[in-house]
Amino acid sequence: MATISKIRAMEILDSRGNPTVRVFVELDDGTYSSASVPSGASTGENEALELRDGDSSRYAGKGVLRAVSNVNEVIAPSLIGLEASGQALIDGRMIEIDGTEDKSKLGANAILGVSMAVARSAAQSAHIPLYQYLGGVGARRLPVPCMNIVNGGQHADNSVDFQEFMAVPIGAPTFREGLRYVAETFHVLKGILKDRRLSTGVGDEGGFAPNFSSNEDAIETIVLAIEKAGYKPGEHIATAMDSAATSFVLDKDGEYDLNRSRAGKMNSDDLVALAGEWIDKYPIVLWEDPLAENDWEGFKRFTARHGKRIEVVGDDIFVTNTRYIARGIKEGTANSALIKLNQIGTVSETIEAVRMCRDSGWRYFLSHRSGETEDAFLADFAVAMDGGHLKTGSASRSERVAKYNRLLEIEEELGKSALYYWK
Ligand code: PGA
Ligand code: ZN
Repeated sequence: MATISKIRAMEILDSRGNPTVRVFVELDDGTYSSASVPSGASTGENEALELRDGDSSRYAGKGVLRAVSNVNEVIAPSLIGLEASGQALIDGRMIEIDGTEDKSKLGANAILGVSMAVARSAAQSAHIPLYQYLGGVGARRLPVPCMNIVNGGQHADNSVDFQEFMAVPIGAPTFREGLRYVAETFHVLKGILKDRRLSTGVGDEGGFAPNFSSNEDAIETIVLAIEKAGYKPGEHIATAMDSAATSFVLDKDGEYDLNRSRAGKMNSDDLVALAGEWIDKYPIVLWEDPLAENDWEGFKRFTARHGKRIEVVGDDIFVTNTRYIARGIKEGTANSALIKLNQIGTVSETIEAVRMCRDSGWRYFLSHRSGETEDAFLADFAVAMDGGHLKTGSASRSERVAKYNRLLEIEEELGKSALYYWK
């Protein structure tokens, strides 16, 4: 088996024009590959630390030269000579050298870049596609693309409090067709917005970001777009939400301030009730972060009330960390976890988070970040993890479409053996 002969990192830009880390890994059989690290905006407070330089003379302090140098000077020398296929050993060694709970010494961006590039080079060296290398011969189920067609919250400068409104092609026969269903809906939505003289500019994840008259106006308009595109809401295409409620929580009295839409203040129970009204009215199959990361009790009440009808996903509250997912499973906080590689910082630990969900009958929802690159690692990873659905933005912005295009390739490669279904 091939061993690691060289590791090198450099600073590149992500889709928001902020610096991020790209890592190159070379093996002794000549295999050479790279991986690039994504970056979030509405981050959870317990995420692994993204190391930034803090040097205000470069990129307003957001440079990642320290992380780059940690790869080149600290991580590389300690991994040279190891077998590239020993993913868990390699990830374990980086965790050990870092020595902190949140990877703050070396930076999760440094560690994850190496972790992803090692996986990719090992797959390449074994002459098998990355999804098969990570997932085995059973990796043949394409994820349902939960396409984020309206952006709000911290991903846009508009009047919408909730961060993401997704179209979910639950009734499509294949990934390719599902992608077509929701991409067509995206285009029809654009026409509706134009007719209403609303902005058709897009937010960070490629969804439209107009000033809707209310949060509910956004979902109503999406349902209209689904119908106008020729699909049956709830049958062909359903909807999903990510409130990203951590971004509009008020700390001091635990109330939420929906100030973008001028909906006023609400407490957890109001939000649980509001979701109930929406779930009754609209074809919603999944709701992520309906409450904030510290509102464990509110989350629990949300799940008790709605968890039988929809998938309740924890993102900021669990941060892809088995420590928090374990608590969530024990307390019935949700019934699904969002899975983001850079929240925890290694491929192996991300797989552990997925395993924990699976073992307890939870679902898990694979996800990109709002700051992305052209790297489509997530597409292969989603097929390998067999979770059945993913979110990777809209049908615009190449850093989002790159993942969809890779999934199209994978489906074509799998041919008749490819699987696609919602549940
Ligand atoms: P982020 O948002 O990548 O900006 O953290 C994504 C999400 O909240 O799911
Ligand atoms: Zn989220």
